[in-house]
Amino acid sequence: MARTPVNVTVTGAAGQIGYALLFRIASGQLLGADVPVKLRLLEIPQAVKAAEGTAMELDDCAFPLLAGIDIFDNPTDGFAGANVALLVGARPRTKGMERGDLLEANGGIFGPQGKAINDGAADDIRVLVVGNPANTNALIASAAAPDVPAERFTAMTRLDHNRALSQLAAKTGTTVSDIKKLTIWGNHSATQYPDIFHAEVAGKNAAEVVNDEAWLADTFIPTVAKRGAAIIEARGASSAASAANAAIDHVHDWVNGTPEGDWTSAAIPSDGSYGVAEGIISSFPVVSKNGKWEIVQGLEVNEFSRARIDATVAELVEERDAVKQLGLI
Ligand code: NAD
Ligand code: LMR
Repeated sequence: MARTPVNVTVTGAAGQIGYALLFRIASGQLLGADVPVKLRLLEIPQAVKAAEGTAMELDDCAFPLLAGIDIFDNPTDGFAGANVALLVGARPRTKGMERGDLLEANGGIFGPQGKAINDGAADDIRVLVVGNPANTNALIASAAAPDVPAERFTAMTRLDHNRALSQLAAKTGTTVSDIKKLTIWGNHSATQYPDIFHAEVAGKNAAEVVNDEAWLADTFIPTVAKRGAAIIEARGASSAASAANAAIDHVHDWVNGTPEGDWTSAAIPSDGSYGVAEGIISSFPVVSKNGKWEIVQGLEVNEFSRARIDATVAELVEERDAVKQLGLI
């Protein structure tokens, strides 16, 4: 019997990440090669025409799994019946904008989107926030959706995870598939902490293989944490294909599970594990089992890691307090 299509809502569908993402979703890479999808593209009214152009191209690919495309300019319709929601569209920081202004502008997007998800999405809705500041935007959306379990709101640090895999593979002369159990902690920002102390390179402890704390502190961590800015500097635009790729990885693993013997990184609501303030949406080492993220427990946190986890968590707590003060959560 043919399977019922899964409704996937993508916001910011006419943007550059949207363009790199939609074709991969429609080809089956998000959910599986046997899972039909219906795309629901959500854009602001001025960008609907561009989204229509992308939809024409999607049609022209004749993807066997693509069961329909609808385009919306309001969240109520955009999220109706959604099973998966990729919140990509966001208000970028512009010249002269303070952090508070940015949080407030995004609150105006993610609050109403959270409410629309609360009121109209399917019971099994899973949300991935990509639009920056992703962790706090996810918190705002979740706060506006009291009837949806908080665990269904996540933010993307998989791109940071993938960046860290590549950097560590290059340093150790291995390939990314030789590396396991790497972790991104905290915020998707320059304070994030890519942690290799529990990672393995071809079965050996990564920190021991590298055996170079100066490289870790002065090269690896800043390279990963500032990679987004380096891409903007080089391309003149923020990462798009790699961001779309990470979104695919995140949702694919959430729905289908993570491989045995490994974990990944995702920003999920903290339950207080590892001293991370409860309720903030922070990146952790995670596995996905039976369609749910679980924080990997029992890892020893050394002094080097503790200070860095605390710093990135402190930034998230500040962001949470700022949006609370603005009445956004
Ligand atoms: P873009 O400017 O090319 O596209 C954004 C799109 O969002 C635009 O088409 C815009 O019209 C749309 N949009 C704006 N407000 C909207 C709303 N309320 N509803 C629906 N659509 C709306 O940007 P992009 O390069 O695609 O990046 C999107 C976001 O992703 C940015 O915030 C960027 O900083 C972020 N990003 C996050 C990561 C990550 O790892 N978490 C990585 C890369 C980029
Ligand atoms: C990235 O990590 O590539 C982006 O979050 C950068 C950005 O500011 O859009």
